[in-house]
Amino acid sequence: MSFLRQFPATRMRRMRRDDFSRRLMREHVLTANDFILPVFVLDGENREEEVASMPGVKRQSIDLLLKTAAEAVALGIPALALFPVIDGPLKSLDGAEAWNPDGLVPRTVRALKQAFPQLGVITDGALDPYTTHGQDGIIDDNGYVLNEATVAALIKQALCHAAAGVDVVAPSDMMDGRNGSIRQALDEAGFELTRILAYSAKYASAFYGPFRDAVGSSANLGKADKYTYQMDPANGNEALHEVALDLTEGADMVMIKPGLPYLDIVRRVKDEFGVPTYAYQVSGEYAMIKAAVQNGWLDEKKVVLETLLAFKRAGADGILTYFAIDAARWLKDQ
Ligand code: PBG
Repeated sequence: MSFLRQFPATRMRRMRRDDFSRRLMREHVLTANDFILPVFVLDGENREEEVASMPGVKRQSIDLLLKTAAEAVALGIPALALFPVIDGPLKSLDGAEAWNPDGLVPRTVRALKQAFPQLGVITDGALDPYTTHGQDGIIDDNGYVLNEATVAALIKQALCHAAAGVDVVAPSDMMDGRNGSIRQALDEAGFELTRILAYSAKYASAFYGPFRDAVGSSANLGKADKYTYQMDPANGNEALHEVALDLTEGADMVMIKPGLPYLDIVRRVKDEFGVPTYAYQVSGEYAMIKAAVQNGWLDEKKVVLETLLAFKRAGADGILTYFAIDAARWLKDQ
């Protein structure tokens, strides 16, 4: 019998031949429900600035941000994640502006919730936009970020955001025990329905560079790094340990960050715990795609939707992505 006569009984290409059977066997579907839009807010009125390293992303004053939020709502995006650009003079060693009840974040939260009660609003729990040294917490004389002092500050920040009406606080600082402490403080203050989205597995990643430009913390941080609190990219088991602790402390949702280079962690976390699991396609991932697109090297729509689908395939329940509005629009037009 010649080699060529050994035709296979199973032909994988049969199901791939036509659009109808490709659609019937498709395992994952992307919708606007999967997206959380990260946004940058700055003080002032009718003010808008491009972020140089994130083409298409803007820092906006509250009035203009409301228009962006309206677009997100109209496209069915469930939530946005708010990041503030804090003016230099308001930054300090201890980041006290982070719990100013009339600060930029609480003002923005109130405006968003008033205009769009149905839109989920998530705020970041960390001090880096507010500190003169750009670290996420309070430092000692050697620059070491102090755990307990920082957690005490994060509690004040979370209570301030909750009082402004935020739906979800998202501690992104990687201090030990912060989720439990924040949970207890929220409950004691009557905010037992304020959710916690824990940045559980947040790696000390070089992919955050453009974000630090966007919020204006890179100059403050200078040559310092975040290795004493963010995770080593070499580790996987440690992420499971972090997630286990955060869930015990009362986190409602967990996050893995960055996204695409860490999809193995997303899959392991989802398999191990089966809880609402999110991933953050971070600023550097956005910048890489945009740079290639601007050079004409990649098809933006196809490549973005492919990356977002990959998050779903890895087990993510949702994706924080700067492409949220574009992606939701592309999906609608499809
Ligand atoms: C700060 C924070 C960072 C990001 C989200 N929250 C930067 C950092 O840890 O230095 C990065 C997001 C992105 O790169 O898109 N706590």
